[in-house]
Parts: sequence; structure tokens; C-alpha cells
Amino acid sequence: MTKYLIASLPGDGIGPEVVAEARKVAEAAAGKFGFELEWREFPFGAGYYLEHNVVLPNSALDDLAECQAMLLGAVGDPRVKPGPLEHGLLLALRFHFDQYLNLRPAQSFPNVPTPTPLPERQRLNVVVVRENTEDIYMGLGGRGRGVIDQEIAAKRGLYELAGHLSLRFLPDQEGAFSLGLMSRPGVARITRRAGELARARGENKLQVATKSNAVPHLYGFWDEITRATAQAEFPDLEFGYVNVDALCYLLPRQPLDFGVILCPNLFGDIVSDLMSALAGGLGLAASGNIGDGLSMFEPVHGSAPTIAGTGQANPLAAILSAALMLDHLGEAEAARAVNQAVYDYLAGPAKPLELGGQDKVITAGDRVAALVRD
Ligand code: NAD
Ligand code: IPM
Ligand code: MN
Repeated sequence: MTKYLIASLPGDGIGPEVVAEARKVAEAAAGKFGFELEWREFPFGAGYYLEHNVVLPNSALDDLAECQAMLLGAVGDPRVKPGPLEHGLLLALRFHFDQYLNLRPAQSFPNVPTPTPLPERQRLNVVVVRENTEDIYMGLGGRGRGVIDQEIAAKRGLYELAGHLSLRFLPDQEGAFSLGLMSRPGVARITRRAGELARARGENKLQVATKSNAVPHLYGFWDEITRATAQAEFPDLEFGYVNVDALCYLLPRQPLDFGVILCPNLFGDIVSDLMSALAGGLGLAASGNIGDGLSMFEPVHGSAPTIAGTGQANPLAAILSAALMLDHLGEAEAARAVNQAVYDYLAGPAKPLELGGQDKVITAGDRVAALVRD
């Protein structure tokens, strides 16, 4: 029997609650479709950090590398200031394993209201393709008073970057900076993935989000390379360029006009939360951080600390992320069955608390798992 070794990183807040349900449903699918899942537990998150003063030990990267996929809950905790956990764990894993494709589907489900009314029987079905390793997310930055003199270093699957930055403010003037950066192969490979996805979905158009009017160095480069890649490799697809501010205006008004939306890292983060709201909420938004090596699957939402431990968390986003993981492992039938079970659960009389129903996190997971087994 095929056996997959999966890294489980429940993380913080509602992370452990939703990952437990995602695992339950994935196990139900494994039982039904004749494969095995072996889970390796990784305890990282705020608790580990506060105890050991280390976010992610180097040795963990080797242990993770032995796994075939990672399933993550969320990181972030009010006891830790914003940054160290998100950068030291979540972004560090995306970068270390060069998970350059952040796939964020947004689909509407039965009985889940959408803020923009949809015509009868029309379902919203958009995928945000977010570049996941570059842009202003590089993690390169600093602050200082008077003069900033700083070494710059970053390592990616595609390159290693090293240099020095020297900035002069007025004497005694304090300032801060972040470097946004993109590479030609980095932009070309994400464009390729978006084009292939649009083709596989039978679409004739791909929307590229940009902001080259205001930030021409970075996003002008993005426009140029996405366009060149499109012309060379996807002559059958129309590439539309839309400034991200206009995109945020258009999406709530006419969400059915969109299919695949290709975004640089920062805009992809923002647009995917907007898309999830338009499709029915963060409690349903799944994602995959996909590379040529180890990939990581996680809900789009964060650790939602204010509802942690109350049972109010909706586990469906994590469950749908597990479905993306099963599909990525090659278990397409199992993935389809999990998606269908979520659909059937929502089409029925019950629903999670978050969506106005009565089901707490465990009950929602139990119901979906039972539908998978049926
Ligand atoms: P959030 O996604 O945690 O919460 C936003 C809102 O949605 C909150 O009202 C929350 O209660 C609600 N919500 C989110 N997921 C839900 C679910 N499954 N069921 C029911 N309600 C849900 O975003 P935030 O409040 O900006 O961030 C909280 C922490 O999570 C921060 O530390 C942030 O950095 C971190 N974060 C982590 C990730 C990640 O690990 N991938 C993603 C986003 C935010
Ligand atoms: C996400 C999150 C992360 C991001 C944060 C927590 C660093 O918002 O996964 O969408 O910005 O990528
Ligand atoms: Mn986000």
C-alpha cells in the first residue's frame, strides 16, 4: 500500500484545532481510497519560541525534508510581537523549500452567502496565483538614525544575493526601509505556472495584477517579464494587465468575470483575502505553497487568537487545504472526494458556527469525515 509521510505543523491559536480536523478527514480519504498517511509532528509556533527562544531549529529542516508534504495550521500569537514567528517559520519554510507558487482557489459553496449576489446556479471559481518568494516579502530591510549601513543577504532556490546598503538621512533623522526584489527567472516561472493553470481550466484569459504606474522599477519589470513569457509560451491566452487598486474595485462588483489572477507576493496576499470574502469567508479558503521540492498546505486564514479554544473555528479551510495536498501527492480521487464531502455537508442542513450554523469545529470535521467514508 502506498504510504505518505506528512509533516504536521499545527502552530498557534486555532491552528491545532483545524489541523486535527483536516487530518481526520484526510485519514478518512486514505482509508477509503487505499493509501496510508504517516504523520510526523512538529511543535513549532509561539509556545516553542517562548520556551526555547528559537523559532525553527536548523535540524528541523532536515527532518521536514524527509516528508512528502507539510500540513500547517497557522502561526501568530498575541504574546509575540508581529514578525518573528511569521518570518521565522512560515516565510522561512516557503523560502527554504522554494515554494514559489502560492495557489489560492476561491470557490463559492451552496448555502454560503456571498456579499455580491450571484445569478442562480452560477458558482464563483477564481484562483489567485501568488508569487511566493520575492517582492517586498524578501525580508530585507532595516532602520536607523542618520546613516544606515547594512549588509544585505538572501538565499533562494534560484540565487544567492549579497551586498551592502548605505543610506544617509538628515543627521538625527530616523527612518526605515524594506527592499522589494524580483528576478527574471522568478517572474518567468510563476507566469508559466499561471498560464498552465489557465489552460488546464479551459480559460482563454489570464489577469495579471500590477502597480507599475506607481512602482515602475519593480512592477514594470514584472509586467515586462510576464508579458514576454506570455507571448513566447502562451500565444493562445489573452493576458490582461490590471492595476491592483482597480482589481480590488472590480472584483466585488463582477467576480464572475475572473478566472486565474496572477499576482506578485504582496498583492497576492491581499487579493486572496478579498477573494475569500467574496466567495464565502476565510473559513473556506484553502491554499498550497508549491515548489519543485517539498510543498506545504495551509488555510489562508491566520491563528484567529480571539476564538482559539472556543470551538468556533471553521475547519473547512484546513480540510480543503488537505484536499489540495492529496491532489498534489497524486491522490486525485481522494482529493475530489474531500471537496465533494465539503460541498455535500454545506448543501445539507448543518453548517459550521462561523457560517451561521450550530457545528463546532470537531462536529464539522466529524460530519465531513463521515461523508468522505460514505
Ligand atoms: P486571521 O485570519 O487570523 O483572522 C481574521 C478574522 O477571521 C478574525 O476575525 C478571525 O476570528 C476570523 N477567522 C479566521 N479564520 C477563521 C476560521 N477558520 N473560522 C472562523 N473564523 C476565522 O487574521 P489576523 O487576525 O490578521 O491574524 C491573527 C494572527 O495570525 C497574526 O499573528 C497573523 O500574523 C497570523 N497570520 C498567520 C497566517 C498563517 O500562518 N498562514 C495567515 C494570516 C495571519
Ligand atoms: C498569509 C499570511 C502571511 C503572508 C503572513 C502571516 C506572513 O498573511 O499566508 O496569507 O503574508 O503571506
Ligand atoms: Mn494573508
